Amino acid sequence: MDNKISLTQLKELVTEAHEQFKGNTDGANADYIPYLANINKDLFAISICLMDGEVINIGDTNYAFGIESVSKVHTAILALRQYGADKLLELIGADATGLPFNSIMAILLESDHPSTPLVNSGAISACSMIMPIGDSDAKWKAIVDNIAELCGSETPLIGELYKSESATNFNNKSIAWLLKNYNRIYDDPDLALDLYTRQCSLGVTSEQLAITAATIANDGYNPVSKKQVFKASLSPKITSLISTVGFYEHSGDWLYSSGIPAKSGVGGGVLGVLPGQFGIAAFAPPLDGAGNSVKAQLAIKYIMNKLNLNVFGGNRIIIED
Ligand code: DON
Repeated sequence: MDNKISLTQLKELVTEAHEQFKGNTDGANADYIPYLANINKDLFAISICLMDGEVINIGDTNYAFGIESVSKVHTAILALRQYGADKLLELIGADATGLPFNSIMAILLESDHPSTPLVNSGAISACSMIMPIGDSDAKWKAIVDNIAELCGSETPLIGELYKSESATNFNNKSIAWLLKNYNRIYDDPDLALDLYTRQCSLGVTSEQLAITAATIANDGYNPVSKKQVFKASLSPKITSLISTVGFYEHSGDWLYSSGIPAKSGVGGGVLGVLPGQFGIAAFAPPLDGAGNSVKAQLAIKYIMNKLNLNVFGGNRIIIED
């Protein structure tokens, strides 16, 4: 069913969601990465990018926060671009782990040790896969260029975050070397880990994440830069990965209650993809126990519910002005 709404009404709805939840004080900043613990916990942004490239921005949408695990989406897309869907499935996997993002147990539990590019193990594997193998600078350039294409603009490294994260990523080091043990790393493990840590330390705005989400929703065509970033056939692949594991052990609850495939990061960002309709992103630093932004979840759920939209339903919004 068509759900007609004007651009002005949509902006009012996003403003309403921002007003509704800006005073919420639940959750806490990630504290296992010292830089993130000190970010202003009151920052709050919501952005929506429509299929025609129109962007609605409410709140602190110019603030560049640590992209963290949301970058797993971008680099999974790069791996899909370089290798194709079948090879990604073979080299990494696409199964939900049902366990926390940094779980070592999840690697051990699977007999052939597959993963998904949207948890730490699979994301480190994905960084190891990025071509050209063995060339750190060229791999990094491929990663950041791909992120910039998806965001429609560059995402500068937050040097302090990179330092903070590199000094404390002991669990991820173990993951990288455990994967090496199981032949699930396709380049030097330390190189792959460093690329992963660096990509997590890029600064991104909610607007840039909404544009990424809209590019995925729009079959790989970035509606703002007007460029085809990746093949349309890859869009359902990345959206299925986001659906199954975007909120880690809370992915089922999230999809069931929000109706939108979404990916979170411990920097407080969340990106949501409603295929053919829009990309949405929200940012607020305090997280729930699984590492997902509390206010971002509330805001996105509120908007989805008010618009009566669900990825598994037949309703579509038609913007008319
Ligand atoms: O690997 C880590 O621990 C961080 N760089 C990223 C984790 C993350 O964002 C998990 N997502 N909610």
